[in-house]
Amino acid sequence: MKTLVVFYSRTGLTKEIAVHISEELNCDIEEIFDVKSRKGIFGCIRSGIESAFKKTPNIKEIEVNPENYDIVIIGTPVWVGNMASPVRTYLFRNNDKLNRVAFFCTMLSRGSKKTFLEMEKLSEFNPLACLALTGNEIKQEKHIKKVKEFINKIKKNYKKT
Ligand SMILES: Cc1cc2nc3c(=O)[nH]c(=O)nc-3n(C[C@H](O)[C@H](O)[C@H](O)COP(=O)(O)O)c2cc1C
Repeated sequence: MKTLVVFYSRTGLTKEIAVHISEELNCDIEEIFDVKSRKGIFGCIRSGIESAFKKTPNIKEIEVNPENYDIVIIGTPVWVGNMASPVRTYLFRNNDKLNRVAFFCTMLSRGSKKTFLEMEKLSEFNPLACLALTGNEIKQEKHIKKVKEFINKIKKNYKKT
């Protein structure tokens, strides 16, 4: 089961979970980077607008070819009840190179269901598993158990296919 973790993170929380998952699986990891900075209040507002209007902003060229992996685990923060716009760009550019997928997101409180549905539509795949984590759950270290369950579900469902 050759696995790649791909993620976007504006303020570091999704990155923390992505690194954790890749360490648990001992697998490769790739970060999606913005071309234009999203720092500060204007970056935040632009992010919300892009997400609400389903924009696909430019992202830096990716380094790892997802085609070379059996499973790509894609992580995003929730922005206005949807995936972060740079993840949308990644999926648009790479959905034809994906074999199987799993999704995870971090958020303040809500929006994971719609986020995962949109990711499913764009990737054109039923995910092997989905994991939604709030900032509070991560603070309280509840994510450790949830990440383990997520990985077990991915493995179990992958074996079935
Ligand atoms: C533009 C914007 C919109 C957001 N919209 C939501 C939302 O709809 N629901 C939610 O629970 N959190 C929302 N958040 C909070 C982020 O999802 C949350 O802080 C996330 O963990 C940040 O991940 P990161 O540190 O990897 O960037 C939003 C944050 C931003 C910047």
